[in-house]
Amino acid sequence: MTACGLPSDKPADDTPPAPAPPTTMVIFGATGDLAARKLLPALYNLATRDLLPDAFTVVGVGRKPMSDDEYRQKVREDVSEHAATPVDDKCWAWFVERLVYAFEPLDDESSYQSLSARLDEVEHGDGDTPRGRLFYLATPPDAMSDIIAHLGAVGLTREPSPERWRRVIVEKPFGHDLASAQALNQQLRGVLEERQIYRIDHYLGKETVQNLMAFRFANGIFEPIWNRRYIDHVQITVAETVGVEDRGGYYDKAGALRDMVQNHLFQLLALTAMEPPISFRADDVRDERVRVLHAIHLCSPDEVRRRVVRGQYAAGTESADDVRGYRDEPKVAADSTTETFVAMKMLIENWRWADVPFYLRTGKRLEKRVSEIAVQFRRPPMRLFGTAPGEMVPNDLIIRIQPDEGISLHFQAKVPGTRSTLGTVEMSFDYADYFSATPATGYETLLYDCMHGDPTLFHRADMVEAGWDVVAPILELMTTTPRDGLFDYPAGSWGPTEAETLLARDGRTWRVP
Ligand code: BG6
Repeated sequence: MTACGLPSDKPADDTPPAPAPPTTMVIFGATGDLAARKLLPALYNLATRDLLPDAFTVVGVGRKPMSDDEYRQKVREDVSEHAATPVDDKCWAWFVERLVYAFEPLDDESSYQSLSARLDEVEHGDGDTPRGRLFYLATPPDAMSDIIAHLGAVGLTREPSPERWRRVIVEKPFGHDLASAQALNQQLRGVLEERQIYRIDHYLGKETVQNLMAFRFANGIFEPIWNRRYIDHVQITVAETVGVEDRGGYYDKAGALRDMVQNHLFQLLALTAMEPPISFRADDVRDERVRVLHAIHLCSPDEVRRRVVRGQYAAGTESADDVRGYRDEPKVAADSTTETFVAMKMLIENWRWADVPFYLRTGKRLEKRVSEIAVQFRRPPMRLFGTAPGEMVPNDLIIRIQPDEGISLHFQAKVPGTRSTLGTVEMSFDYADYFSATPATGYETLLYDCMHGDPTLFHRADMVEAGWDVVAPILELMTTTPRDGLFDYPAGSWGPTEAETLLARDGRTWRVP
């Protein structure tokens, strides 16, 4: 049983993980979408699993006037809608006592001084147990700089003792290009040590993404073939069926390259291509991930034209319903050239991966919601079964990130009968069949790790900058010739046909997930 009185899904012999240390978590942007859909539900999910300490308070900071009770009511509704399990009254009673709201206009230093006083008061009420403070910046990107500067100015980032640690989680997008990311990093380092900065990427909190490391490095059989001798190419797909919803204002300035590729897709690529780390210490793992990003070939303008396809969804369908095109979405410019789809070919210039293309694609309003990494192996060197070379079906290994998390291997088998005919068969592992894991938002692990001071699954400054470095030539071309390489695709399709051509030129096709 957990502290909340819920039955635990852990086997009896499993040593339960320790709860997080005493923490006050301050959420800037407490009434926003991210807090409502992900952060508060994730915290509640942690509470149901007994992973929050008794000395714990969430201080929601917002510019909307609201009482503690109104805030609690709002959070109850958000948690009911987005938590992993139906809200349990006993657990909720524990959780709600630890929620307070601070209405602060955040426009000058006095706001931060009054916030500081409120935090002291909250912690004093708890008998002054020494607590760490976690500041979560769930705010629009243009508000971040100001908040960081003020936190530093009023001394809220100073650490009086090891138990009274101070950490800041910074949401993406982390800058909008290399120069702005460098400026933001510099500003953060002006008030915080690197070890206090947690740049979050919720893809790294997903179980199957973390499982990539277990799959590669806890098994002896895959690593010997995980290289250019055996692997023909890799396809990374992150496809969504949703459009931009009500985020047009943000998205029209960002686009798929900044919103998805520079962070989530590059991390999937890094975990797929990295060398084995010498240990699982945070910096050993992060060193290997960043090395991959540094090894990505930087494209010339001509290579960008040949290797990158951008798309924008036009009117079409989603689950048989008619949906409008991107340029008709609210808060999107009628002549917008922002891409909602990107497909690209990338090359990693190192000993292991030279000449093995990594094809990446992501988009909104695609045919199916699916995220996966498909590793395609080389065809056998000789044709013994009478099929023409082009018809030989290569083996592929599919790592399914969502939905239906799992791993499948496709290989050839003889079709029963007197003829030597081959058929493709599948060996498949489904997470759900093996582990009774509770569904999660992806933020649970990351919040828990941050409270424990484990930055392994967070970005380091050099990783963010390396990602921006890789997309810089693409951004450059998008700025100078915004319509070049941008094609419409009907909502509900797999993107513009030019994305197919990208692979067809190399004699390959996208996998149909
Ligand atoms: C976010 C992007 O980081 O990831 C969104 O800003 C996108 O545009 C979302 O929809 C996808 O996350 P998930 O977990 O639903 O695959």
